[in-house]
Amino acid sequence: MAQKNWQIYLWRCSLCGSKAYGKKPPAQCSKCNSEANRHVLIPKQDQNKTLDFEKYLGMPSLNSFLYLVGSALDDKVNVMCCNSVTQINFCPLRVAVVINKNNLSHDLIKETGFFTLAPLTKSQGKIAHFFGRNSGRQVNKLENYTYKLVNSGCPVIDGCLGYYECEVEHGSTVEFDSHTLFIAKVIDGSLNLNKPQLTYDDYKQELRF
Ligand SMILES: Cc1cc2nc3c(=O)[nH]c(=O)nc-3n(C[C@H](O)[C@H](O)[C@H](O)COP(=O)(O)O)c2cc1C
Repeated sequence: MAQKNWQIYLWRCSLCGSKAYGKKPPAQCSKCNSEANRHVLIPKQDQNKTLDFEKYLGMPSLNSFLYLVGSALDDKVNVMCCNSVTQINFCPLRVAVVINKNNLSHDLIKETGFFTLAPLTKSQGKIAHFFGRNSGRQVNKLENYTYKLVNSGCPVIDGCLGYYECEVEHGSTVEFDSHTLFIAKVIDGSLNLNKPQLTYDDYKQELRF
């Protein structure tokens, strides 16, 4: 017998833990504005339970630093917040960055092959939130910020702890279903790590999720 398509599912936001019913995950979490892909489906048998692993959703045990990723194409400049960043090797200095395919930044980086990575300071939680919860597809996120453009044309917001300018090695790009893993060589940069860096945990605590 064909399965009926009227089932309503229960979804949990992996960032703040709030729940929502629906056929699909909510486009945005009503509490913290996280996007649909940050929601996980709660299996029917677990809907009334608080599972131990739920405390770890969002993987705070993999607490990581937060960065602003800047990109540009023609006269479009854009910045998003990103935590999925890691160093790959020293010489040449390479980084790996994972970007959701829905993000405007994804399309700009894929097209041009360049981006900037700017480490945030602990006092920049609200900036992380603004650039991480709004899309350049809907708003010009840079209009109320001062920034500089590096050689590749990518922006770096003033007040960050410096930047790395990165060139994608397209041959090493890995496509997943929802995200792309970009491997990039650091071609320029300037850092002044004179203040502590903002982490995912700091961010969550500041916003009291
Ligand atoms: C703390 C935090 C960390 C984030 N980390 C990532 C990430 O690692 N990769 C990603 O694709 N999006 C990440 N995001 C979500 C993007 O910043 C968000 O989808 C943004 O609106 C994309 O902007 P754009 O469409 O202008 O590129 C993060 C958001 C926040 C608040």
